[in-house]
Amino acid sequence: MTFFIKTYGCQMNVRDSEAVAAQLLAAGHELADSEQHADLVIVNTCSVRQKAEDKALGKLGLLVAAAGDRSPRRRVGVIGCMVQRLGIAIFERVPGLDFAIGTRRLSTVARVVARVKGGEGPILDADPDPVDEEEPVGHVPGAVTRFVNILYGCDRRCSYCIVPDVRGHERSRPAEDVLSEIRSLVADGVSEVTLLGQSVMQYGRRNPAWAAPPGPGEPCEPLPRLLHATNGIDGLRRVRFTTGHPSGCTEELAKVMAEAPRVCPHLHLPLQSGSDRVLARMRRGYTTAEYRAAVARLRSAVPGIAITTDVIVGFPAERIEDFEDTRRFLNEMGFDNAFIFKYSPRPNTAAAAWTDDVPAEEKLRRNKVLLAEQDRRSEKINGALVGREVEILVEGVSQRNVNRWSGRTGTNKITVFEPRAGLRPGDPAAVRIERVTAQTLYGALCRGTR
Ligand code: 5AD
Ligand code: SF4
Repeated sequence: MTFFIKTYGCQMNVRDSEAVAAQLLAAGHELADSEQHADLVIVNTCSVRQKAEDKALGKLGLLVAAAGDRSPRRRVGVIGCMVQRLGIAIFERVPGLDFAIGTRRLSTVARVVARVKGGEGPILDADPDPVDEEEPVGHVPGAVTRFVNILYGCDRRCSYCIVPDVRGHERSRPAEDVLSEIRSLVADGVSEVTLLGQSVMQYGRRNPAWAAPPGPGEPCEPLPRLLHATNGIDGLRRVRFTTGHPSGCTEELAKVMAEAPRVCPHLHLPLQSGSDRVLARMRRGYTTAEYRAAVARLRSAVPGIAITTDVIVGFPAERIEDFEDTRRFLNEMGFDNAFIFKYSPRPNTAAAAWTDDVPAEEKLRRNKVLLAEQDRRSEKINGALVGREVEILVEGVSQRNVNRWSGRTGTNKITVFEPRAGLRPGDPAAVRIERVTAQTLYGALCRGTR
């Protein structure tokens, strides 16, 4: 069969979709170039906010309604966080689905698809804690950048967050598995990897990640040690890691970011709120003072480091004073970029028991204020690069304009330029920046770039 996977949600989901695609390719199926041309469409879902769920449900409804337009009938499956959350109820929400597979059972997709192809269905596979659980690790060849899981699940239990429910307990992958996966990606032409974990700085803190104690000169903490080891992989140009938490911004992490040339000077460090009162109710495990100290530690060790963040507005009982504290704190921190979300109550979270008392129009207002201020801030920060040369890793044709190519700086800024004959994805290049927006740098390749 030809298949197409539509992915909602975070980088973890992008990674899962790729692993599922690799599994289906290995089973003899083919990747369709679009949804229209696919015999099987799989939707990978996100539960983090109600809006994300609504989008996926809308999409699935349309797909199922149109499934009979194709002969033989197109198969439609759903995977990921919503399946883990809803279980069998997903079939009531979207009647007509062929299968539903949860986040913890993705290694079964090819087997389930074979059964569906043979006429069985609907099939549910979302048992949250099966004995034979295994995480799929395959990759689809042909890319320059790839995600690599290092930590599954999350045990933090922030009061608003559904992730522990849909992704399970925190499990660290053995460092040797991670390193051999990266080595084989590099052998397949990958230049940049991003190490993934919902709260990546927990890596190796609960389940040991390393069999042997660190060697002389090696960092002791598991994540800095993994970054140090990854930095030593021949042929790899860059390594990133996400998502951060202030508790992990230690001297050792700052040191490895400063000293290991392949470790990119960028960290996504969700703040969520700039009010200590709200942070405590969110159960984030830090105060604004601790967050500030974490950022200061990184900035003093890694000059020019880019720090990006997430913020939730309209959390239960967020007063106007709390919001103004957040506004001031964002201004003080001077983040390179910030994603601003309106609070969305999630079933079975601690915050779901509290009244969602900030009215929708006030959440929207707070959201717009922070977004507008961040846009101006990002544009100003990027503006300082005009006239300067930045080092990028070339990724290929730009998503917005097929006549341009794009790449990213070590600080994770998308950089768009006109390609030159002989330039290939994966090449490093220098670009002189001519103009910027809040999200993108535009410039010209410098002479001397291959
Ligand atoms: N409502 C709104 N935003 C949320 N996030 C997580 N849970 C919720 C929720 N219930 C945001 C956080 C997180 C990002 C991935 O999504 O900011 O960092
Ligand atoms: Fe969405 Fe969270 Fe699942 Fe990622 S882990 S897809 S953000 S619910």
